[in-house]
Amino acid sequence: MKILLDCDPGHDDAIAILLCCYSKKIDLLAVTTSSGNQTIEKTTRNARNMLNFCHKGNIPFAKGNSSPLIRPVQVCAEVHGESGLDGYEFPSYAINTLPYPASELIIRTVKANPGLTIVTTGPMTNLAIALKANPSIIPLIKEIVLMGGSTGEGNITKAAEFNILVDPEAADICFKSGIPLRMLGLNVTRKILVNNHVMEEARKINTRGSDLFVKLMEVFNKNQREFFGLPAGPLHDPATIISLINPNVFKFEKMNVRIDTSFSELAGKTYCSQSEPYNCLVATEVNLEEYWSEIYKHLRRCI
Ligand code: RIB
Ligand code: CA
Repeated sequence: MKILLDCDPGHDDAIAILLCCYSKKIDLLAVTTSSGNQTIEKTTRNARNMLNFCHKGNIPFAKGNSSPLIRPVQVCAEVHGESGLDGYEFPSYAINTLPYPASELIIRTVKANPGLTIVTTGPMTNLAIALKANPSIIPLIKEIVLMGGSTGEGNITKAAEFNILVDPEAADICFKSGIPLRMLGLNVTRKILVNNHVMEEARKINTRGSDLFVKLMEVFNKNQREFFGLPAGPLHDPATIISLINPNVFKFEKMNVRIDTSFSELAGKTYCSQSEPYNCLVATEVNLEEYWSEIYKHLRRCI
């Protein structure tokens, strides 16, 4: 399965990158970065570090837009720290991104690989720019799989989930593009908690990957407890990759999803309805045992 990953690492994005690199079912064609959990410079450095950690430093890699389409930059240092990936010390790698922006790499990758899947685990700014700049790629994209939104409450505001809230206009462009959509929102991802049992199981694996996972999740869990009052960190972003590599993990329902692009307290809300024409498969249930089995499987491979 050919995919391009657009991400804002971010602790959970980092594990999504690891899954892509160690899955036997994923052909990771390219990685692009968005401004989200931290500034674009920091998310780009973090993504570079993760790709090199996974021995995939040769994958086409481009830095994304430094800000949302029209709204101000919004980061989440409370959860991901000043570096955006606090908890693990990477060797210093050269950042070597391609000499053109993420949106251009998206366009080139789609044109060279019709039928690929685009996965976004951060704000959808880069993809929106690519779709607007070159609409001819729209029919060439098999599916957009995103972590974002919610059928229920948000996390940053009562209405909105972070990835959509940061750039509602970008999400609106993607959701109105006509490209098949698969949305994994907080209504399922906040059930996927890196609790003590998961941490103990990960420690037993004792590989380079599990060592990174445990060190990152110790910081992620602490920050999630303090900032959101959650019992443990929700491992949001790997849900996108796991939904692609194991169809038994999530249940999806056809819904109409509309983005609130107002400047009110509802900005970034995803209105999910089953009484309007469907445009999106929305995750409604998760099999946690299968989810964690996939995580452990890939941590074992990362030696
Ligand atoms: O709301 C959770 C999402 O926002 C995750 O993708 C997390 O990494 C942040 O980007
Ligand atoms: Ca993310």
